Amino acid sequence: SVRLLAGVRGVFAAEQVAAAVRPDNAHFPHSRMVIVENTNNRGGGTVWPAPRVAEIRAAADRFGLHLHMDGARLMNACVAARCRPTDYTQHVHTVSMCFSKGLGAPVGSIVAGPKPFITRAHRFRKMFGGAMRQAGILAAAALYALDHHVERLAEDHAQARRLAEAIAELPGIRLDPITVETNIVLFDVDPSLGTAAEFVARMREHGVWMLPTPPQRVRAVTHLDVSAAGIDRAIAAFRAVCRGR
Ligand SMILES: Cc1ncc(COP(=O)(O)O)c(C=O)c1O
Repeated sequence: SVRLLAGVRGVFAAEQVAAAVRPDNAHFPHSRMVIVENTNNRGGGTVWPAPRVAEIRAAADRFGLHLHMDGARLMNACVAARCRPTDYTQHVHTVSMCFSKGLGAPVGSIVAGPKPFITRAHRFRKMFGGAMRQAGILAAAALYALDHHVERLAEDHAQARRLAEAIAELPGIRLDPITVETNIVLFDVDPSLGTAAEFVARMREHGVWMLPTPPQRVRAVTHLDVSAAGIDRAIAAFRAVCRGR
């Protein structure tokens, strides 16, 4: 079973981990693992501070828990926090990361950890039918992304902030631009603009694609394929839809 910890936009504290560990009692499952998601998607692209991850590790060690970092957007976190991946990964047992998303590879993710863990992961991948002999072409795209698309994530973050600042002032949009740390802009639409799904459908007519989360929350994401001109177009579309034009 999974216990979700209510943190501050997805970043929780070591005491919360300690409090969530199940007692040694036949009625409960054994607590085995803690996962931190960096950046945190539902939190709005929130960056974990590396010292906080170190605190979570200390708590995990106290209870014999495995600490995994879901670093699908780890490079966004590193660019925003101006740190290296190892500033985070030194504190965790295992880490995963996506080369698609902001890094721009067409497909591909990685999991890293100690050798026995990887040997076991290989086995599970085979069992689930995920093995692929011809993965080199995908690895090449991932290597290209690491060489060419990491520093530029700062542009995505600046574009996200610019979008957030422009739309925060519009009628019916609830958003604090200060919460936009990376490439994700989360906001709520007032019911007078419809549900999130209805709002997103109207924005799509203007060529702007976003993700609705019922009932009123919307997620906009910037990435390699979203240009500065594209953000200008998106802002114009927001203005038109929010002002009922
Ligand atoms: C936070 C997070 N973790 C994990 C994943 C899974 O990545 P993949 O499908 O490449 O394994 C995603 C993908 O959307 C994600 O957003």
